[in-house]
Amino acid sequence: MPKDSLGHLFPGTVSATRSVPSHIPRPEYVGRKAPAPFTGSDVYSAARIEQIRESSQIAARAIEAVGRAIRPGVTTEELDRIGHDFIVAHDAYPSTLGYRGYPKSLCSSVNEVICHGIPDTTVLASGDIINIDITAFKNGVHGDTNVTFIVGEATDAVSLLVERTKEAMMRGIKAVAPGRQVNVIGRAIESYAKRFNYGVVRDYTGHGVGEAFHSGLIIPHYDSAPRYDTVMEVGMVFTIEPMLTLGAQESDIWADDWTVTTKDKSVTAQFEHTLVVTERGAEILTLP
Ligand code: MF3
Ligand code: CO
Ligand code: CO
Repeated sequence: MPKDSLGHLFPGTVSATRSVPSHIPRPEYVGRKAPAPFTGSDVYSAARIEQIRESSQIAARAIEAVGRAIRPGVTTEELDRIGHDFIVAHDAYPSTLGYRGYPKSLCSSVNEVICHGIPDTTVLASGDIINIDITAFKNGVHGDTNVTFIVGEATDAVSLLVERTKEAMMRGIKAVAPGRQVNVIGRAIESYAKRFNYGVVRDYTGHGVGEAFHSGLIIPHYDSAPRYDTVMEVGMVFTIEPMLTLGAQESDIWADDWTVTTKDKSVTAQFEHTLVVTERGAEILTLP
């Protein structure tokens, strides 16, 4: 994703596929067109939750390692190398690698890229923002998390967007409680985002995660009631991952079939945690 004369991104060159040591078990979808339909539950046992926590922690620490390398001049493919090496060094598989044909071990989404940006020869510059989204697979379960970083120094408007997107995620997490419908999460996120007139992306959502990367359970980040009325239960595991924009919420997809941008090319930020529902509310699993 180099930039054109208007400062908008376009696709760079994607480097060769990275290898994963053969002793690390792969998710079932690797080497196939699509994952097998998930027939399991979104509610897990205490022992399984501890395994999801381990995968989640590897993903969170991998993002920290990548974050330490983010600076003007670094390429997104170098960040992918760092994330990949961290994950495999912890005997985990980078879940995005080979997921529906996705070619890399993390998503790197710069400026107007909402999500699913592919690491390539793009060179970061001061003032850019970049979301790093990592999912790790170990012991048969995935943990999924993302963070938006500021490269060098950003404008006040962009810095505030990043700060408030994290706060929006935290407000969604605080709305979690057993017995409530999942649509309360998006209501909390959207009502906060609307104070600042931010766009709230609707085309991409949170999701059930664990034995499947995306279980089929959908967690909208906008007020979707009376739809999305699934009642939260103790032991349920899913992500909350709002994407907010400085403009409108509509999205476009590049010809690579992956990179999602704002239609109006406005800057956009995202944060994501994997969490489990407990009697007392949400417990975040993707803490480093
Ligand atoms: N980690 C992303 C999510 O939060 C999914 C990335 S899928 C990929 O759901 F194929 F684009 F990598
Ligand atoms: Co996710
Ligand atoms: Co993710």
